[in-house]
Amino acid sequence: MKERDVIAVDGPGAAGKSVCAEVAKRLGYALLDSGAIYRTLTLLVLRSQIDPHDVESVARLIKCNLGCISFWNNQLIFSGQPVRDEIRTPQISALVHHIAKIPAVRKLVVPLQRSFGAEDRLDIIAEGRDIGSVIFPEARVKIFMTADPSIRALRRFDQYREKDPAYAGTLDQVRNELRARDMEDTTRPESPLIRLPEAVFIDSTFMTKQEVLDKMLQVCYMRVAV
Ligand code: CDP
Repeated sequence: MKERDVIAVDGPGAAGKSVCAEVAKRLGYALLDSGAIYRTLTLLVLRSQIDPHDVESVARLIKCNLGCISFWNNQLIFSGQPVRDEIRTPQISALVHHIAKIPAVRKLVVPLQRSFGAEDRLDIIAEGRDIGSVIFPEARVKIFMTADPSIRALRRFDQYREKDPAYAGTLDQVRNELRARDMEDTTRPESPLIRLPEAVFIDSTFMTKQEVLDKMLQVCYMRVAV
């Protein structure tokens, strides 16, 4: 039986990884947005009203409610509803790295990610922080994508304003949010974001979305041929 193809894309927030959705479409692959899982768990914590910094209570809550999270038709489902933009708020962005750094939480989420599309042996492109290092170390293609922090902050600021015209945050606040997340994501003891030596490096600082897309497709096709 043919092995399913896995493309792993890791990198910090607002680095340009959202292009993965278009890459997936072009290749006919399913897309796993692993950050969406951590964001959904953060939403769960916020709705529960427990102290998000009480590590044991958070881990217990998530363990008991993990069954509320699933995939249907490659779409992330939470409590029977498709997960949409409600997980992309500044409030969740400010908290998600605290939830994602809890080892017990990560342990629970690993099998969920590995099960994505596995039953149907779907080819997938998966994006996040530990995809190439922990979730799919066997991935055929690994990409590490980043961009200058000031450009990333500007991109995220524009996204917030586009989604919510009443958004009142400042560029400085967004820059600080990303900086705090970068710090936590790269220094946590459990599956930190790292640049693997075998990963193709893409710096999207001066690239348009189209250029990032072309580059990613080129990398994926090139690796198909060898
Ligand atoms: O969209 P953005 O790039 O800002 O972030 P995301 O991919 O939605 O991930 C949100 C947060 O989830 C990250 O800052 C990490 O703290 C966590 N995360 C993680 O720890 N491991 C992953 N594989 C994916 C996300």
